[in-house]
Amino acid sequence: MDDYPGCVEIVPLAPCHVERISEIERECFPNPWSYDAYLAELSNPLAVVFVAVVDGETAGYADAHHIVDELYINNIAVAAPYRQNGLATRLLKQFYKYAKKNDVVSITLEVRESNRVAIEFYERQGFEPVGRRHGFYVNPTEDALLMTKTF
Ligand SMILES: CC(C)(COP(=O)(O)OP(=O)(O)OC[C@H]1O[C@@H](n2cnc3c(N)ncnc32)[C@H](O)[C@@H]1OP(=O)(O)O)[C@@H](O)C(=O)NCCC(=O)NCCS
Repeated sequence: MDDYPGCVEIVPLAPCHVERISEIERECFPNPWSYDAYLAELSNPLAVVFVAVVDGETAGYADAHHIVDELYINNIAVAAPYRQNGLATRLLKQFYKYAKKNDVVSITLEVRESNRVAIEFYERQGFEPVGRRHGFYVNPTEDALLMTKTF
């Protein structure tokens, strides 16, 4: 959405975002990536990471790796108070722009099969289920759906 009631910027990951991102990560996922893992993304040549900043606050992020001609999304999350305002959509759109500029032909991700909100969100964005990874997640153990969007 472009009518978010605040100043929204989608920017590349910078050191100032890492602490809040690792907090959001802990709020959202049972097996969160650590502070150090996100810090390492800053110098990872494969990493493509965008951050949604609302009124100067880190509100969400999306982390992907660019491998040959594919983007693989590792994590995408929006802090609870900022959800359903189009921030995750804007983060994905930034990946689409990156994909077009960099000859990326597909974007792939895994999602817990019980995460209906995320699955419906990805389906609306044109991702299609292409497979399943049995017992991919722990805590609790659960299958992952593999979803892909091709360009
Ligand atoms: C999934 C998630 C990233 C979506 O972020 P968001 O910023 O709220 O998403 P958006 O506002 O861009 O919503 C996109 C669409 O999903 C819908 N949607 C989002 N959350 C919803 C909810 N709780 N219930 C119903 N619909 C929802 C929106 O209405 C919107 O649809 P529309 O644009 O067609 O109306 C967010 O819920 C989240 O961080 N969840 C926890 C972490 C997670 O599960 N990440 C995904 C792991 S694979």
